[in-house]
Amino acid sequence: MRALFLEKQVSQDEKKIQVAKAAINELQDGIILGVGTGSTVNYFIDLLANQAMHFEAVVSSSEESTIRLQQHGILVSDLSSTGDIDIYVDGADEATKQGYLIKGGGGALTREKILASASRKFICIADDSKFVGVLGNFPLPIEVIPMARSYVARQLVKAGGNPVWRDNFVTDNGNQILDVSGLKITNPPELEKNLNNIPGVVTVGIFAIRTADKLLIANKDGVQII
Ligand code: 5RP
Repeated sequence: MRALFLEKQVSQDEKKIQVAKAAINELQDGIILGVGTGSTVNYFIDLLANQAMHFEAVVSSSEESTIRLQQHGILVSDLSSTGDIDIYVDGADEATKQGYLIKGGGGALTREKILASASRKFICIADDSKFVGVLGNFPLPIEVIPMARSYVARQLVKAGGNPVWRDNFVTDNGNQILDVSGLKITNPPELEKNLNNIPGVVTVGIFAIRTADKLLIANKDGVQII
């Protein structure tokens, strides 16, 4: 008799819910919590509203997340008044096993990078479609000062990239985004540093100088901790 093996089917949304639940399990009472941005984090925010822990403060990385937190009755505090964050939970567009990330698909990279840098522990949550060997398939988001956009774009072309202006998009900080494909990201910390040095660049979507401390990656069989 021929054995029939059925591949388990788990949707991307189900994986995002699983990994958001796993992130809730990482939290403790009384901490200062940082909250990232994106569809995976949205599940995390919805779960936050239905658990019993009490946090000293909750800090948000975007207007979008702030609104969602407030809609759940969660008070959002300002980073300048809380001091450093104990645990920061955020998604990613790409993640490697070293904790290197590309972020900014949702355009919130600047505040996300500030919260990541201000956190004692950065937990990155993602489904397995984001887990890669080398960064760079996802076009790298770079937030730029509007008057410097073309200048920065020319420097990125010289560096081997193909920048595309994210049309009709203004960041929470009033800036613009260039999405850059074609860059070789073989040394993420070095490229992050070099691109940061172009005048007019506000934030580079490579998170490699401050990596994620823990990756929670959801696959069809559960959540892998890396
Ligand atoms: C927003 C981000 C997000 O974390 C990233 O785009 C992942 O989002 P999603 O969970 O929707 O896939 O960096 O600026």
